[in-house]
Amino acid sequence: MFNKISELHKLCFPHRPWGADEFRDLKKSGCEIVASENGFIVWRTVCDEAEIISIGVHPDARGSGIAIAMLGIMENELKKAGVKKILLDVSAENTAAINLYKKCGFMENGRRPKYYDGIDAILMEKNI
Ligand SMILES: CC(C)(COP(=O)(O)OP(=O)(O)OC[C@H]1O[C@@H](n2cnc3c(N)ncnc32)[C@H](O)[C@@H]1OP(=O)(O)O)[C@@H](O)C(=O)NCCC(=O)NCCS
Repeated sequence: MFNKISELHKLCFPHRPWGADEFRDLKKSGCEIVASENGFIVWRTVCDEAEIISIGVHPDARGSGIAIAMLGIMENELKKAGVKKILLDVSAENTAAINLYKKCGFMENGRRPKYYDGIDAILMEKNI
């Protein structure tokens, strides 16, 4: 399972791929990982807040609603667990992801200047 997610991650983040061991460690440290043939999402919950650690969809499968569906699955799980807020950060240049999060109801709540190799990180949150 972790090998397949790692292959998918490499296609989604070619400049900073995570190996299978990193996904294994994330799972061991308490992260939730939901993955299918074409997509994955990883999140961590601390008390009544959750943070999206990573999300990616196979380049050939993008634009068909897979990311929205995965965010929906995550949100349902979090609501059942009593989580009240979801947090994330995203590169200010990642228009696809920013649009995705806005479409799913996330609001910008701050910035970390030059966080990703000189590019700002936009901080976003959603109350659920
Ligand atoms: C961001 C990503 C996960 C979106 O996955 P996806 O399955 O293609 O997204 P969806 O089909 O569910 O799209 C949902 C919405 O996201 C936005 N969106 C998705 N791709 C977009 C693009 N290329 N340009 C602009 N907006 C885009 C749109 O608002 C879209 O809604 P619409 O189709 O009604 O316009 C995918 O592009 C990806 O894996 N990118 C590389 C990894 C990455 O950047 N992850 C996020 C790190 S924070």
